[in-house]
Amino acid sequence: MATYNLTVNGTPRSVEAEPDMPLLWVLRDELGLVGTKYGCGIGACGACTVHLDGIAMRSCSLPVGQLDGEAITTIEGLSENGDHPVQLAWLEHDVPQCGYCQAGQMMSAASLLGNSPGADDAEISASMSGNICRCGTYTRIHAAVKTAAK
Ligand code: FES
Repeated sequence: MATYNLTVNGTPRSVEAEPDMPLLWVLRDELGLVGTKYGCGIGACGACTVHLDGIAMRSCSLPVGQLDGEAITTIEGLSENGDHPVQLAWLEHDVPQCGYCQAGQMMSAASLLGNSPGADDAEISASMSGNICRCGTYTRIHAAVKTAAK
């Protein structure tokens, strides 16, 4: 066990954990931030996507031992009032079906638009291709990201 200091959604947090504990479990089990979801555990589905210094990363594949001093943003911290352009576009397009993958989808979309605010169709498709949705809401996800990109 060791102590790690993270900034999570703008707030300094200290956690005691084994160095190989995935960030996903630190967020969910140690910090109670359960908006970030477990899907595959091997970095293949995108359900666990968070931002590490603004870049979309798979939290299931990030050992907390490598993150001391880092800034993490989860879906709970994407905006103060649920009014991030991506969140508003998700509502406008009524994107979710079961909803399980949607936090990861929105975090990937927000990262894309943070780095490429006017992303075109090809960029959106390429950037979102790693986020799996078993309900198949891909058409609405793409439309929402496009709306948020305007
Ligand atoms: Fe992390 Fe699937 S749970 S990518």
